[in-house]
Amino acid sequence: MENGKTILTGDRPTGPLHLGHYAGSLKKRIELQDQFRTFIEIADVQALTDNFHNPGALKRNVMEVMLDYLSVGLDPEKVTFVLQSQIPEIHELSIYFLNLVTVSRALRNPTVKSEIYEKRNDPGKMSHFGKELDIPLGFLIYPVHQAADIAVFDADLVPVGNDQLPMLEQAREIVRKFNSLYGDDILKMPEPVLSDCERLPGIDGRAKMSKSLNNGIYLKDSKETVEKKIKSLFTDPKRIRADIPGEVEGNPLFIYHDAFNRHADEVEEFKRLYKAGKIGDMPVKMRLMEEINEFLEPVREKRESYQGRENLIIEMLMDQSADARKTSSAVLKRVRRVVGII
Ligand code: TRP
Repeated sequence: MENGKTILTGDRPTGPLHLGHYAGSLKKRIELQDQFRTFIEIADVQALTDNFHNPGALKRNVMEVMLDYLSVGLDPEKVTFVLQSQIPEIHELSIYFLNLVTVSRALRNPTVKSEIYEKRNDPGKMSHFGKELDIPLGFLIYPVHQAADIAVFDADLVPVGNDQLPMLEQAREIVRKFNSLYGDDILKMPEPVLSDCERLPGIDGRAKMSKSLNNGIYLKDSKETVEKKIKSLFTDPKRIRADIPGEVEGNPLFIYHDAFNRHADEVEEFKRLYKAGKIGDMPVKMRLMEEINEFLEPVREKRESYQGRENLIIEMLMDQSADARKTSSAVLKRVRRVVGII
């Protein structure tokens, strides 16, 4: 590849991917796949950290995510798809990394802290995340495991949504510590690459789309489902009539327009009218549905074309994972040597 840099990023297979995933990360990946050597990982082992009591869904979810990836435009000719469980070097490197992280540092990771908070308030997960330190150890250390995901592929760049920045910070800390102990440049120092789009709120106005809150628009949603969801979209709650001047800042209706409407001048005009109390929510919502459906139509068609080809997709995922192991075993060879293991 032209500039020799490597990208790694991925997702937990916890269900189908939504527009928030697209705006926050997939879009950027699709752009970058033409410029860099790219690994896209499906983090099935990581998904077990909070779904270990529900093993049945995991395989189905791996397929959902692969179908989403392929239909949204990640191209297997350009990227290497990796199934985390097929790369034992990740787990081995994690064990070495665990010596470099204190318990208090693990507890201080903001992503972990906020996820614990969310799970405590999720009735399905309460029993595993109940009292103060009643957290599965596997969950607490998953940022360390994620640092190993990145380091094991010699990744330079990690495109992620901003919720993952604390994970990257911790990965960088671990790599810094590792290299200062065992020798400069043994492991690559990864850099985050942020998407230029603001995080998409849920259709209910909550900070993010999430499966358990049932407030997302999915890449595989039908035209009718998108229409229904956009009709019910939370907007400015103070605006009970169209002639009341509305708030545009932080309003999901405009955040979605900014992300999916390709006609920036139309969006600016809507904002102006909305602020002046000169347009109702409905016409602005109608245009949004059209734009989102226009974006999703080719994605749906592509998804359709993969129907019934699940076995081939799994085969490709396994082949590409085997290929990725060439990189991970070379990195582990280096690592074992410096940590003193034969
Ligand atoms: N934790 C990430 C998420 O939930 C998924 C992930 C796993 C990841 N390994 C990664 C992201 C490595 C970037 C790099 O979205």
